[in-house]
Amino acid sequence: MRKITVNASRQYEIIISRDIIKNAGEFVAGVHKKCKAMIISDSNVFPLYCSTVKKSLEENGFESFTFCFEAGEERKNISTLNDIWNALAQNQFTRSDLIVALGGGVCGDISGFAAASYLRGIEFVQIPTSLLAMTDSSVGGKTAIDLEYGKNLVGAFWQPSLVLCDPNVLDTLSKHYYSDGMAEVIKYGMINRPMLLESLEGDFDIEDIIEICAQDKREIVEADEHDNAARKLLNFGHTFGHSIEKLSDFTITHGFAVAMGMKIITKACENMNLCEKGAYEKLCTILAKFALDNNTTYSAGAIADAAMLDKKTSGERISLVIPTKTGCCELFDTTKSELLKFTQAGLE
Ligand code: GLY
Repeated sequence: MRKITVNASRQYEIIISRDIIKNAGEFVAGVHKKCKAMIISDSNVFPLYCSTVKKSLEENGFESFTFCFEAGEERKNISTLNDIWNALAQNQFTRSDLIVALGGGVCGDISGFAAASYLRGIEFVQIPTSLLAMTDSSVGGKTAIDLEYGKNLVGAFWQPSLVLCDPNVLDTLSKHYYSDGMAEVIKYGMINRPMLLESLEGDFDIEDIIEICAQDKREIVEADEHDNAARKLLNFGHTFGHSIEKLSDFTITHGFAVAMGMKIITKACENMNLCEKGAYEKLCTILAKFALDNNTTYSAGAIADAAMLDKKTSGERISLVIPTKTGCCELFDTTKSELLKFTQAGLE
């Protein structure tokens, strides 16, 4: 069992252990008094793992309830959130009760925002079931829903009380979603861990990879919980990635879009002499190993336009995450009008 303690505005543990999902209730009981627990999951994950988690919670004294929503980023919206709020209210959840988010990034984001907003805030536990959620989104307390205008435009910082990662559940993850999660892992390597990229080139143990990413995330969140400085680096590839996701009506999933976003910004930076030559080729090679070699078909103009509502914009300025070499990224303050130059240079 591997444990990582996060010291953010609240302290909590990330526990990584095979089969931990079967004993989830015991671990939840270690940090929560007996109470009502609403397990929130989506239509892919619910049939696979909900009964296991429910049984374990009940064996450990929790009164459990379930809420299942249709899987997909397009459901991370106000309508699903409203249904969750109503399910909590209908079952008389109080401030001493709990949400358990059982699923991937979409489930964690919307469940976390329900926890942040219901009764002005109740506790929540993350049980991530996708590689993307284990290595990135379940840690650090970013919670949100999407608007028609873009991704994650309404949300809150709300830290979970516990994160339980069971690498065994990755066995039921499709190849597509395994690759999707690998894009976020490669992101960590590109930001500040060239050794992680080297590990990915050979044989690796996925538990080691989850632990490395969770440790990196912990460090960054502890340094900048509210995304004012260092945490912005975690958005490498995301400015254009979110645009691509949005332009595709979410038919291109997050990790694949981020992979395309990382390629655009890395190629742009090489072409604009902001990044050491060779970084783009190295990035493409490692992405291809995980079937993340698709290129975008959207135009530079469409991608730049869709990025205007990015959360890293402030007035007319935007903070871009740029690579300076493989395994090293920096923040680069520019104007929104410069975005088009970057997308053009990245798609040449
Ligand atoms: N996924 C980026 C962050 O948590 O800041």
